[in-house]
Amino acid sequence: MADILIIGGGVIGLATAVELALHGAKVKVLERGICAQAATWAAAGMLAPEAEQLDGELLELGLRSRALYPEWVSKLNHITGEDCGYRQCGIFAPMIGMSDWESHSKYIDRQQANSIQTGLSHDIAGGLWFPEDGQVDNRRLARVLLLAARSIGVEILEGVTVSQIAHSAGKVTHLATSHGDLKSDRYLLATGAWSKELMSLPVTPRKGQMLAVFDPNHSLERVLFAPNVYIVPRQDGSIIIGATVEDVGFTDGNTTAEIDRLLTEAISIYPSIANMSIQSTWWGFRPYAPNEMPIIGMSDYANLFLATGHYRNGILLAPITAHLIANSMGLESSGKNGDLQHFARLFSTVTAVGKIVP
Ligand code: FAD
Ligand code: GLY
Repeated sequence: MADILIIGGGVIGLATAVELALHGAKVKVLERGICAQAATWAAAGMLAPEAEQLDGELLELGLRSRALYPEWVSKLNHITGEDCGYRQCGIFAPMIGMSDWESHSKYIDRQQANSIQTGLSHDIAGGLWFPEDGQVDNRRLARVLLLAARSIGVEILEGVTVSQIAHSAGKVTHLATSHGDLKSDRYLLATGAWSKELMSLPVTPRKGQMLAVFDPNHSLERVLFAPNVYIVPRQDGSIIIGATVEDVGFTDGNTTAEIDRLLTEAISIYPSIANMSIQSTWWGFRPYAPNEMPIIGMSDYANLFLATGHYRNGILLAPITAHLIANSMGLESSGKNGDLQHFARLFSTVTAVGKIVP
């Protein structure tokens, strides 16, 4: 019997598992099988609360989480000796033609843009420069989280599918799984776009198609974030180009039309992409929740916690989500991270929504 059973081994489940285990909890993660379509593996890894133009509470959450990143990845590095590919490389949001962005505090003109990144399209008149936004290599991060979790005693049960959350008198009694019933004091649902299979939460998939090209010259240093495409350079020369946002359920596959569109848009921003070779294409499913607000905190069931619905920003929001869950389980004092309790309360209110699927 574990103290805490976590359903879902994506970035949210794993980040929380590490956090809880570091607070002394005995944690097990149940993952039905790591797959390329889980958002954690499909993502671009941008840490972009500003470029994504988040606002209100979500912006505050995003800025706090971005601020946690340097210490978080260095903690993971300390535990594992591995690097997650975190870089505060800045994100440039280019502007083609005229717009009213010139009055924006983050506006830079064409000349300034060329000084932070060479090789931009001549059509770019300027844009917004967000030097504090950045990126992490999300696949490396996921591997490092798996390693970190295992090395501090978290049990990762891969190949275990949870088919039902059994409950009685407002409390979860056990999980019915492909490997029999599993019991714990507390449970965390972190099942991303698939959350509705277990609870009637308002979380639905939003498909994203992506591709990677290879830049042998490593010429792109900044993330470029345009209205219809973003371009994310990795340290190994890969450049990630994304992404579609499609409300098509769990429809598999890349389409030629969307990959063509993404490439055309990318080349119009950074022309040398036209000469780069295509490395791979893939797709994945973002967990969309209403108003793009993640669902984090206690559920209506006394010992069941929720961390899902992170939509476009779950890589960014992983460290703060882990803190919030630890906090709502009473494992962390609010002092260390300012007024986290305020956020925990806020998200608990938001989450009083779902019933367990019978
Ligand atoms: P997931 O990564 O989907 O993990 C859920 C896990 O639960 C899966 O591994 C699944 O197998 C498991 N599971 C589900 N049901 C069960 C069950 N019944 N039993 C056992 N296991 C189960 N975010 C950013 O911050 N920056 C970005 O640049 C960015 N780009 C993105 C680009 C794309 C194309 C996509 C798709 C997403 C992007 N995101 C980005 C969003 C981010 O990837 C997600 O918000 C985040 O990964 C969600 O993590 P998760 O752990 O909740 O879900
Ligand atoms: N945050 C980028 C995406 O979800 O596509």
